[in-house]
Amino acid sequence: MKKISIIGAGNTGATTAHWLAERELADVVLLDVVEGMPQGKSLDLLEAMPIIGKDTHVLGTNNYEDTNNSDIIIITAGIARKPGMSREDLLKTNAGIVGKAALETLKHSPNAIFIVLTNPLDTIAYLTLKKTGLPRERVIGQAGILDSARMRAFVALEAGVSVENVQCYVLGGHGDEMVPLTRHSNIAGIPLRDYFPADKLNAIVERTRKGGGEIVGLLKTGSAFYAPAMACTQMAEAILKDKKLIVPCATLMQGEYGLHDMYFGAPVMLGAGGMEKVVEYELDADEKALFEKSAASVRESHEALKSLGL
Ligand code: APR
Repeated sequence: MKKISIIGAGNTGATTAHWLAERELADVVLLDVVEGMPQGKSLDLLEAMPIIGKDTHVLGTNNYEDTNNSDIIIITAGIARKPGMSREDLLKTNAGIVGKAALETLKHSPNAIFIVLTNPLDTIAYLTLKKTGLPRERVIGQAGILDSARMRAFVALEAGVSVENVQCYVLGGHGDEMVPLTRHSNIAGIPLRDYFPADKLNAIVERTRKGGGEIVGLLKTGSAFYAPAMACTQMAEAILKDKKLIVPCATLMQGEYGLHDMYFGAPVMLGAGGMEKVVEYELDADEKALFEKSAASVRESHEALKSLGL
């Protein structure tokens, strides 16, 4: 059985463990700084396995040695965004937490592929890459699948069609300047621009951009976790099964879309090697302008990280 270690056993980490265990994708190790909590959640999850007939082993721990030889490391450790708090406010605290966690896990799993969820996502993924010194193929940020899934859900609700008929591509940074590509997104092949009147489509795009904040506003004590955890599960499955799945993820740009040395959401191919390929779309002038605006905001956050000296 393959092995996945999840760092941070809070809402997102524990829910990811749940989805992974249910699919019998890999044995799961759930690690947190809080004593007893990862052990308790893991034991509870392990005790659910006989009911669904899955032989997934789930271990809770506070000790990095238990993450030994993981195939995938999923990092969700950190503090979650609270109402009124921007993603960038999170940077300082979460960069400190993730920097240490990434180095500890790498020591015990030198061949692992890292999936990063901790926000501010693009910058924390960049930090993970720099701290570990790994090639970009092995440090992937989860964001685009979630943002695209939110848009798919809103489109399906508005159109009254199955979510399976809806394909959406939300690229760019994982922030309010993200870029929902309405020309490439479609319902059963019909571009959204042709399906909806402009005002309806704009409302969907805006709701998608503020999707994270909508949940934070409702929950009041934390941020979204079901959809982020499911997005992460899809990424892990694509890697473990070498599916060559093309999905939007945050990856290090090396000239693609005209961007360099920064994490940014783009369609990538996920397989056994991790992020195996960046797929480049032809963008029109409007889309290019949106990309540039989003890139400027990610660059600013990367600069903030650098100025912290982390
Ligand atoms: N090492 C390990 N775990 C840690 C550490 C650390 N140094 N510091 C904090 N944690 C743990 C916390 O104890 C907590 O259990 O990280 C967990 C975070 O869980 P939640 O607070 O429930 O947050 P969650 O909703 O899961 O979000 C985690 O993912 O989607 C992003 O914005 C979100 O950055 C946030 C992260």
